[in-house]
Amino acid sequence: MQKCFSLASMVAILMFTFTGSCVLSQTTVHQNLSASDIAKIDSLMSQMTLEEKIGQLNLFASGWDATGPMAGSNNEQLIREGKVGAILNAYTVDYVRALQRMAVDDSRLKIPLLFGYDVIHGHRTIFPIPLGQSCSWNLKMIEDAERVAAVEATAEGLNWTFAPMVDIARDPRWGRVMEGAGEDTWLGSKIAAARVKGFQGKDLKANNTLLACAKHFAAYGAPQGGRDYHTVDISQISLYEWYLPPFKACLDAGAGSIMTSFNEIGGVPSTCNKWLLTDLLRKEWGFKGFVVTDWTSTNELVDHGVAENFKDAARLALNAGVDMDMVGCTFLDYMAELLKEKKVTMGRIDTAARSILEAKALLGLFDDPYRYCSKTRQETEIMTPDHLSLARRMVSESCVLLQNQNQILPIPEGVGRVAIIGPLADSKKDMLGSWSGAGKWEKSVTLLEAVRERFGKKTQVFYEKGCNANDNDKSGFDAAVKLAMSADYIILALGENSWMSGEAASRTSIELPGVQNELAEVLAKTGKPIAVVLFNGRPLAITKLSGLPVAILEAWFGGTQAGNGIADVLFGDVNPAGKITMTFPRSGGQIPIFYNAKNTGRPFILTDTTDKYVSRYLDCSNDPLFPFGYGLSYTSFEYSNLEVATDVNKITVTVQVANTGSRDGEEVIQLYVRDKVGSLTRPVKELKGFEKALIKKGETKTISFILNTNDLAYYHTDMKKYWDPGEFEVFVGTNSAETISKSVTIK
Ligand code: BGC
Repeated sequence: MQKCFSLASMVAILMFTFTGSCVLSQTTVHQNLSASDIAKIDSLMSQMTLEEKIGQLNLFASGWDATGPMAGSNNEQLIREGKVGAILNAYTVDYVRALQRMAVDDSRLKIPLLFGYDVIHGHRTIFPIPLGQSCSWNLKMIEDAERVAAVEATAEGLNWTFAPMVDIARDPRWGRVMEGAGEDTWLGSKIAAARVKGFQGKDLKANNTLLACAKHFAAYGAPQGGRDYHTVDISQISLYEWYLPPFKACLDAGAGSIMTSFNEIGGVPSTCNKWLLTDLLRKEWGFKGFVVTDWTSTNELVDHGVAENFKDAARLALNAGVDMDMVGCTFLDYMAELLKEKKVTMGRIDTAARSILEAKALLGLFDDPYRYCSKTRQETEIMTPDHLSLARRMVSESCVLLQNQNQILPIPEGVGRVAIIGPLADSKKDMLGSWSGAGKWEKSVTLLEAVRERFGKKTQVFYEKGCNANDNDKSGFDAAVKLAMSADYIILALGENSWMSGEAASRTSIELPGVQNELAEVLAKTGKPIAVVLFNGRPLAITKLSGLPVAILEAWFGGTQAGNGIADVLFGDVNPAGKITMTFPRSGGQIPIFYNAKNTGRPFILTDTTDKYVSRYLDCSNDPLFPFGYGLSYTSFEYSNLEVATDVNKITVTVQVANTGSRDGEEVIQLYVRDKVGSLTRPVKELKGFEKALIKKGETKTISFILNTNDLAYYHTDMKKYWDPGEFEVFVGTNSAETISKSVTIK
């Protein structure tokens, strides 16, 4: 038997005794809740029956856009009975209003519903996939894009998004890398915070802001073999160091909810991981929002082999700290019985129910349950010219110029006949990418459409598909080659279909699928200039393609304005400045491959090709095809005069960057640090800062970074974060591999 009570539990016990109910102390209430919100919640909590409290803990799907097995039915009746806390996948003002009316008019306590949806990269105006957006290194634009997403989603009744997805991922076989911000924790954390701010705005009660949900807590991005939903097995230090910080960044930015992940960590599935959901999240990090499971992840505790049945699963999840069960019905079906059997406590049910009511109050739903149901807003605030223009700019900022042999890009002025070839050139359905919310693919602009419009009547543009993205049919090759022979300039659109990345879309080979490499090869033989545009949701191993004398523009899936934004780059109106946020391997066999790896005890020195017993492959070099942070421009930049000065705990880094080419251009100047002797092994480089600067042709800019010694801190074996005085190497450069550096001793 436990001998001593914590202070918190004593307060809870006193509250129970004095009020005669299970209402918890107000210490659990968010700072932003007003006195009247708190009074409303207190009053509801004192009136709610057990069933009504349990009712708040259920999130049911409307039947639109299912992403997994359906477990519930008869939702409308349940809403009227006060047994539903939230609905997912229901939007449009009429639909939301009708469902909300069932809760507000028909249920006993008239508690409004939350309406959640996967607004991942836009609602109706679809922006580039998040991985693409991250390549812009433009935090302000990312925040603005989420602001637009929030405006549109709330104009259609939604008040909760299952985003941002902040899973760090180092394995491009995993299809969900398209949803995240790439492999770097530092950059991923900045982007995570920007997204939360964009969604939630300054005032959650405004009718155009919605509740964010950081997901998937935690380490979902590290499944073995890159296979979705697979086991995660990582050290505690890696978890703290690489996978958790973006979640903490979301919470620090005010995220009101968090979603558990499907995977296990150290043998404990996240959905029943008390250490993760209670000790770390609430006690250590002070999270005040609510925890929702992923789709049926409570039920899946049975398949994981830690719960005997769904009832047992419900017990484990609630006790671990889950507040809301997504779709699985386990809380609805078993929680009352579990309470009767004393397997869960009333206190825990109360805390969970209260956390859902708090979210509703924070969103202003008690003041006006139809706050997000404005027909006028639905008619005037969706896909506006401003939204489309931001989406277009985001497309061009997300594009990364990977290769530009013979300066094939930008398209030269006065070019004669143009051939557009390839399976992705005119595929509207593939432009939005996975998780495209309520976006309509019919409204997306393809590359062919955009390029034709740009050339107008001046230049003839011809099109051949050549092949499909993902089969072995070469019957279109001849026509493609014939067209290429007759053209002066070829734009070749290759890549993956959009369904090949996203959830449950892992691949073992990350090469260009189907016969696309062969198509590129036969076209290259024509000797014509070829600008390849790549559409894909993950880094691809394009070693074969990059061996051809072509230009390669990585365009990801750009969303509604894909074609227009890409055309802006192809025609040179926008000088590309995007930099990849995930390493592009030479071969799938190098995976996992990421820039902030460890040196090992037997590092391979590139110049020494004789030593066998070093950490290397027999059949492939260690370095990637394109390193993290890489991306070319139509101009060139030169780095010089790196200075590093230290003063008490401040480190000032300055560098000069000159635009040595013939165009104005933006450059993402990247700062990396290596801790040369740590108490634990440290990565060969870690991103610690960046600046995206416009540098005019012929201009030299001095760029400064200020670091604090705390920026050098990392988790030690005692799981405390501090830095080790000693020697550090400071690098500044155009990508993680091409840098200039200086050593500095910091005491
Ligand atoms: C995904 C989540 C998503 C949920 C609701 C799940 O399958 O893993 O990311 O938010 O479905 O659509």
